[in-house]
Amino acid sequence: MTVPLFDLRRQNAELADAFRAQFDQLLDTAQFVLGPAVEALEQALAQRAGAAHAVGLSSGTDALLTALMALNVRPGDEVVTTPFTWISTANVISRVGATPVFVDIDADTYNIDPARIAAAITPRTRAIIPVHLFGLPADMDAIMRIAGEHGDIPIIEDAAQSIDACVGERVVGSIGNVGCLSFYPTKNLAAMGDAGACVTNDAALADKLRSLRVHGQVGARDFPHIGGNFRIDALQAAMLSVKLLFLDQWTQARQTIARRYSEAFANLPVVCPHKTDGVRHVYNQYTIRVLDDRRDALLNHLTDRKIGHRVYYPAPLHLQTCFAGLGCEDGSFPESERAAREVVSLPIFPELTPQEQNQVIEVMCEFFR
Ligand SMILES: Cc1ncc(COP(=O)(O)O)c(C=O)c1O
Repeated sequence: MTVPLFDLRRQNAELADAFRAQFDQLLDTAQFVLGPAVEALEQALAQRAGAAHAVGLSSGTDALLTALMALNVRPGDEVVTTPFTWISTANVISRVGATPVFVDIDADTYNIDPARIAAAITPRTRAIIPVHLFGLPADMDAIMRIAGEHGDIPIIEDAAQSIDACVGERVVGSIGNVGCLSFYPTKNLAAMGDAGACVTNDAALADKLRSLRVHGQVGARDFPHIGGNFRIDALQAAMLSVKLLFLDQWTQARQTIARRYSEAFANLPVVCPHKTDGVRHVYNQYTIRVLDDRRDALLNHLTDRKIGHRVYYPAPLHLQTCFAGLGCEDGSFPESERAAREVVSLPIFPELTPQEQNQVIEVMCEFFR
């Protein structure tokens, strides 16, 4: 049996009629960019995040970029972030002319290690971007405390992989100054193309984000800011609003699969995803660490047995060619480099059948036997 890492067709097939109804309605109104469908999505997103405002944007990457622009991050500034993440988190920093300052991760959570942040802060630090990687919230209490101790450095949460993840009662994205969501098709809330959003409790920041997404426009004829075209399509917003109604159920399905895997792998020489009391993990990925230098052999075994898998991320960002100018060498961030050598993500998505889950478990156990 082939088990896919991910198959969005199953989810979309169940909702096809609802999608068609939304599509027909949009054909009638011909309001394809922003408009009522986007406003409805924004309201629903803000409410879920416990945030006062949500601003729909063209992608998660553009959400991060727009957030940096809204906070006036510019050339000469530094922004602290993790090297163990998708490239977008850091390349947006360079795109506004600022410098990414990497801080190594915590070995258990794969998220930025708060204990190392203070040493990376300089008078030029203009923002911190923690990433809630794989669906697990970063240690926001510690990060907020450090930001506060250094003059309230703004925090941009990269919540691209973690919609609805929580720290206690607080939903990620609404804990720092602004949170960035992605609706790229592999995310827990998946568009039919690219889409993203920012959430924030800061009304002035929300206004600025709204302005920046339409070239910095305010009112009918004024352009006080240099912005861009970061608008979300109404079609994506309409589809996402349909899907949002099912997100709780889908997240629970992910959590159930994760629990099954973690129980089944308890005696294998792997480290299952970290669990912290009071923290809600939404398992965008189920990522294990394979001990004893056996990761690559396991990858081959999974390929042989047709179990979908992927290494997120095979190379940390400080070693990417595009960041060579930062002068980071091999060994600069040992935990990120070790994670890149030791992790692999296994199939997890709400429609993964019990038989497919059994197959993943069986193939994993077979390898370690
Ligand atoms: C951690 C992280 N940040 C940012 C992004 C960028 O989102 P998008 O692909 O919607 O631009 C992604 C997803 O691709 C991501 O996983």
